Amino acid sequence: MVLAGKKVVVVGGSSGIGLATAQLAKSEGAEVVIASRNAERLKAAAAKLDVTAIPADVTSDESVAGLFKNCGSVDHVVVTAAQLRTGPFKTVAMDDVRATMESKFWGAWRVARAADIRAGGSLTLVTGYLSVRPRPGAAIVGAVNGALESLTRGLALELAPVRVNAVSPGTIDTPIRSGMPEAARRDMLTKTAASLPVGRVGEGDDIAKQILTFMTVGFATGSIVYIDGGALVV
Ligand SMILES: NC(=O)c1ccc[n+]([C@@H]2O[C@H](COP(=O)([O-])OP(=O)(O)OC[C@H]3O[C@@H](n4cnc5c(N)ncnc54)[C@H](OP(=O)(O)O)[C@@H]3O)[C@@H](O)[C@H]2O)c1
Repeated sequence: MVLAGKKVVVVGGSSGIGLATAQLAKSEGAEVVIASRNAERLKAAAAKLDVTAIPADVTSDESVAGLFKNCGSVDHVVVTAAQLRTGPFKTVAMDDVRATMESKFWGAWRVARAADIRAGGSLTLVTGYLSVRPRPGAAIVGAVNGALESLTRGLALELAPVRVNAVSPGTIDTPIRSGMPEAARRDMLTKTAASLPVGRVGEGDDIAKQILTFMTVGFATGSIVYIDGGALVV
């Protein structure tokens, strides 16, 4: 139980990578708080994991401040919250690309400012491999991920002795693609799996394990780790 006696907050913990992280942290003995917007989904996830739920929206300064006021001092904070809106560069609406920055970049920024993390504790941000392996139609997603990686390195200096790291996932099968038609989603995941050296797409737990490593390895700060099934070497 490597997190016994530790308090962990997962912002975005009601689904996907955040949910897997909350589950792993709980199984390692941590007191866990999960936060996200949809109160019903959050409550259901918290009840299933037997953790605390605090509704919060990372696009609001007040909401994020309220979350951490409620939490008090904590040991580890993880930010997986993001709602991405993208499209072809020349035609995507400015409102959409601004909303992507607002939730994923400024959301992480707000959390980093508001959280009271104990010395030696950690903040983990979740970026994404499009920062280094761009794809047409997703320039804003690559840009926000790259900005977060830069922020990670800056905060590792400025927030020390709190440690700040980022994990950059490849394709992970989570509800993030629930808006896609099911057949297209399955087809995309099958083709991606076949293209990767590991022969499969990722699961939330693949990324949660890396996040747990960041929490527990006291020598890790300013690190960006790509967990992508080999997507960067094919
Ligand atoms: N899955 C992948 O293939 C993949 C690949 C690369 C990078 N990533 C990154 O990994 C992170 C997690 O993705 P995921 O796949 O786990 O997504 P997910 O299953 O859709 O989970 C996203 C979580 O964030 C919460 N959230 C969204 N907007 C929020 C807001 N404004 N305030 C508070 N909470 C908010 C959601 O709950 P509510 O909607 O109820 O708020 C949910 O709990 C994201 O940053 C994503 O870009 C994912």
